[in-house]
Amino acid sequence: MTEPLRLGIAGLGTVGAGVVKIVRQKAALIAARGGRPITISAVCARNRAKDRGVSLDGYAWEDDPVALAQRDDVDVFVELVGGSDGPAKAATEAALRAGKDVVTANKALLAHHGQALAEAAEAGGAVLRFEAAVAGGIPVVKALTEGLAGNEITRVMGVMNGTCNYILTRMESAGLTYDQAFAEADGLGYLEADPNLDVGGIDAGHKLSLLASIAFGTQVAFDAVELEGIGRVSIEDIRQAADMGYKVKLLGVCRMTGRGLEQRMSPCLVPATSPLGQLDGGTNMVVIEGDQVGQIVLRGPGAGEGPTASAVMGDVIDIARGTRISTFGQPAATLDKATPAQTATPAPYYLRLMLLDKPGALAKVAAVLGEAGVSINRMRQRSHDQNTAPVLIVTHKTTRAALDTALAAMVGTQVVEGEPVALRIEQV
Ligand code: HSE
Repeated sequence: MTEPLRLGIAGLGTVGAGVVKIVRQKAALIAARGGRPITISAVCARNRAKDRGVSLDGYAWEDDPVALAQRDDVDVFVELVGGSDGPAKAATEAALRAGKDVVTANKALLAHHGQALAEAAEAGGAVLRFEAAVAGGIPVVKALTEGLAGNEITRVMGVMNGTCNYILTRMESAGLTYDQAFAEADGLGYLEADPNLDVGGIDAGHKLSLLASIAFGTQVAFDAVELEGIGRVSIEDIRQAADMGYKVKLLGVCRMTGRGLEQRMSPCLVPATSPLGQLDGGTNMVVIEGDQVGQIVLRGPGAGEGPTASAVMGDVIDIARGTRISTFGQPAATLDKATPAQTATPAPYYLRLMLLDKPGALAKVAAVLGEAGVSINRMRQRSHDQNTAPVLIVTHKTTRAALDTALAAMVGTQVVEGEPVALRIEQV
């Protein structure tokens, strides 16, 4: 009989338990697909006594993930510990040093150390795969590295944090404030232990930086992702956007421009009728554009036991089959150090400002925009609330720098109350 592929699994949370279930319950199916049995030799987690809803009988127990990663009876180290440093990094490095293949769901680890780990994998003749790290169950890493390998990728966009999409959807559909929707998501257990990873756009930014590396053949550059979370998005903006035919999404966009690599993760307006605009709840979507294929849209669950374990097993079965692909789709030494684009591609913007009810107030705002070279496309003024009225402006395409000049100058007009809101309108 063909030798089994032996796993060592570090981290037995939701995803780890899901992987154990697949290995135990679908043994015949995965052996047929992988061409050899897939077994578990050893596992490791913080709490040995915890009931995970699946038997761990027959597996050796290790307290230390580094020891697990180095065991002789482990061929593939499955890293489901999480965190950009600490035990996850130490154990992954130990596994790669020992020449063992690694499958991980850890976006933070790869966003911060992807290049060094890819180099370490190649030096040890190992592969390092991470399908589960990006958009959960959606096989987007495979799509980019394999199915679309014959394309020059022109743009990758995505809603890749289900928690943020859930919060924004609930604000829109149930009229909840940001705080109410956040509390609801928290009650459902959606938020990461550090909620800022979700609502600050960091988790989605990690994922975007990994896709950008594959798409553009560049070293992972998470630090160069322009990040803005959803904390300042108000119900008022969601309503006004809807009224003008848009939805507000925490949208990641990466593209290679003449000015360098552009990577942005920020709340944007997208047309309500577009696939991204129609994405409700905790679901993820990645849109990939290639010079040959045109545009493709991948949609599916971005988190949870089954979807994430599905992605882990896809990588494990690839290794069982003997498929060996470089971490970011090409040898690590050939990945360029991309120059980050200092400015985003020009786009139309949505502006909301509270205008004081004074003669000439609107003219002053229009003048400030005009002086900065920002042209108004559409404008609405809502009914007055005592002494102020909300004014909504959609600009023609403009640079963020010109817009920022205008926004700064608005303060000096003394007819704008509070800080204006500016959201990019992405052409999708
Ligand atoms: N917290 C993430 C989300 C899943 O809400 O989509 C893990 O990256």
